[in-house]
Amino acid sequence: MRLRNVKGASERIDASKYIIKDYEKYRGNYKSLFNNDNKICIEIGMGKGDFIKGMSMMYPNVNFIGIEKYDSVMVRAIEKLEDTDIQNLRLIKMDAEGIGNVFVKEIDTIYLNFSDPWPKDRHEKRRLTSSNFLRKYDSLFVGTKHIVFKTDNRKLFEYSIKSFTDYGYKINNISLDLHKDVLINIETEYEKKFSSLGYPIYIIDVIKD
Ligand SMILES: C[S@@+](CC[C@H](N)C(=O)[O-])C[C@H]1O[C@@H](n2cnc3c(N)ncnc32)[C@H](O)[C@@H]1O
Repeated sequence: MRLRNVKGASERIDASKYIIKDYEKYRGNYKSLFNNDNKICIEIGMGKGDFIKGMSMMYPNVNFIGIEKYDSVMVRAIEKLEDTDIQNLRLIKMDAEGIGNVFVKEIDTIYLNFSDPWPKDRHEKRRLTSSNFLRKYDSLFVGTKHIVFKTDNRKLFEYSIKSFTDYGYKINNISLDLHKDVLINIETEYEKKFSSLGYPIYIIDVIKD
């Protein structure tokens, strides 16, 4: 994602009713934030938010939290949410490196969409599907661990299949052409861009007890 400084982004983010500012305070108690017992799903690296917004509107009985590390990107998501009142959606601006300090035993599903590939070997630990991150995700889940990952990047997809299965995840579902195989799908910004250029979209859904 190309990043430009956006003037006033930080202030606009802070002013949004969707943003959870003191996100470490709710650790273990996120249900109280939503004031219900519905399951909680997160998207890490939500970008400009089309997916998490679409999911929260399609599934009002599921709580969604989108996570993004850059102000300049998060502010675009906030703009798209202006004039909306979606009760089951919240956003956190943070680097997912520290995700273990935010949630514990309360997440149902982690969505990873078009994650940065970090192609150099020396940056492997930054990939959101690396064992470095899979280890961090372990303590977040309330029960069965469940991750859904989609991308247009074949190499990252192959890497991630190996990473998930080496770590003990089992494949629940997989497609090498999501748009041909699946009818219900909320598209992300990157997905719209790459599928319009003719690239197939890969998806894998994995679980671990
Ligand atoms: C390639 S973009 C994809 C955005 C969106 N998911 C989509 O599909 O359109 C990856 C996004 O993940 C965010 N990201 C990458 N690493 C992250 C991390 N460690 N914590 C939080 N966000 C991260 C980036 O800032 C960027 O906005």
